[in-house]
Amino acid sequence: MDTASYVRWFRSACPYIHAHRGRTFVVNFGGEALLDPNFPNLIHDLALLHGLGIRLVLVPGLRPQIEARLQARGLKPRYAQGLRITDAAALDCIKEAAGQARVEIEALFSMGLADSPMAGVRIRVSSGNFVLAKPLGVRDGVDFEYTGEVRRIDRDGLLSQLELRNLVILLPLGYSPTGEVFNLCAEEVAVATAAALKADKLLILAEFPCRFASSTQHIPQLTCREAYQLLGENAFDEASARHVQAAVTAIEQGVSRVHVLDRHQDGALLLELFTRDGCATLISAQPFETLRPAKLEDIPGILELIVPLEQEGTLVKRTREKLETTIGDFWVIARDGLVIGCAALHVFPEAGMGELACLALHRDYRGQGRGRLLLEHIEKHAKNLQLTSLFVLTTRAAHWFLERGFHLATLDELPPERRQWINLKRNSKVLIKPL
Ligand SMILES: CC(C)(COP(=O)(O)OP(=O)(O)OC[C@H]1O[C@@H](n2cnc3c(N)ncnc32)[C@H](O)[C@@H]1OP(=O)(O)O)[C@@H](O)C(=O)NCCC(=O)NCCS
Repeated sequence: MDTASYVRWFRSACPYIHAHRGRTFVVNFGGEALLDPNFPNLIHDLALLHGLGIRLVLVPGLRPQIEARLQARGLKPRYAQGLRITDAAALDCIKEAAGQARVEIEALFSMGLADSPMAGVRIRVSSGNFVLAKPLGVRDGVDFEYTGEVRRIDRDGLLSQLELRNLVILLPLGYSPTGEVFNLCAEEVAVATAAALKADKLLILAEFPCRFASSTQHIPQLTCREAYQLLGENAFDEASARHVQAAVTAIEQGVSRVHVLDRHQDGALLLELFTRDGCATLISAQPFETLRPAKLEDIPGILELIVPLEQEGTLVKRTREKLETTIGDFWVIARDGLVIGCAALHVFPEAGMGELACLALHRDYRGQGRGRLLLEHIEKHAKNLQLTSLFVLTTRAAHWFLERGFHLATLDELPPERRQWINLKRNSKVLIKPL
């Protein structure tokens, strides 16, 4: 990367650095990640997040570690209804695996070699009896013994650790008031913890990217409602369905966003958290991208979008004051809080006409139907206001409008009050569409 690209990249990450500081993220990954030679890279990325002021709770799974221990003792893993049956011998294996995993993770967070990404970092890791559990009991005649489910998360205990700037590790074990230990599903612990903390994000580092059963296409984002509906249609592959179900549960319990990442992608966490489009599947309560009326707070974003177009002569120049007084006419497409498209409808009630103005899409998001979406939205709005036609003045996009039902017209056909302040030097084409 050359110096200019590096500086540009660093600056582009700034809004995310500010946005994430002080937020609480719960990160879940399977035991496979711990065995991966790249695991130290994941630890370095987590250390970086910690350094940027993000409050982290890590919830690792232990499935392969437990299987290996059972095998070493000549024991066969027992499953029923998709869940492990944990007998006393299996519980021993789980305790051993949990102890070893904790020590190994702590050791990695303690590294501070001068020329490593961990240089100069001091991260305190905390772990403890924050998860209270109860036995699953007997289900359909099967006694699950020491397999349990989360009963409660010690929210205050966890918060006090996070307040101290400690990074917390929660292993998939829970304790009962009778002093027993239960084996839990790590993803369930992560969901319950994220819900108890009302975490800003739950990040699931999955073994496979989130996929539909019928295609291998990347799923960039889903609202909770869409995810729920697709689960009902059995649209996801088996592993993805489990993660999406976890995401829906977490969001229903108050977690803002759940990201399902492919943990095999090096730096996936950083890409997802510090770039606009990320690389994971984001499941959120609110749509990630919305078309909504503009607010005064959107003005800097609208200006950022239209100033380059004004400079090249595509759009007519508007001052900030002009935008402030006409902001009620504007609609924006906001993507993850950033304005990526806008359009305005100025109404001329006496003529029964509306002017579609300032239609603009961010360069990176053109050609994907958003221009059409804004136009259709403005048309619908104009019809609701009983307007009979829509006009537009354009220097560069006449054909775009011609292909969408507009026809060329003359200045005389415009409302008289609009004609008065037309800049004839721009030599714009006039187009009209009857509604
Ligand atoms: C014009 C604009 C709003 C279209 O938005 P968009 O989201 O890219 O549009 P859509 O995805 O709905 O449509 C894309 C189609 O329009 C075509 N198109 C884009 N700009 C065009 C233009 N200036 N003239 C003719 N066709 C154009 C694309 O080639 C594409 O056609 P294709 O699918 O056949 O290749 C967008 O390109 C833009 O912001 N341009 C700069 C500002 C501008 O000119 N605004 C209009 C003046 S008010």
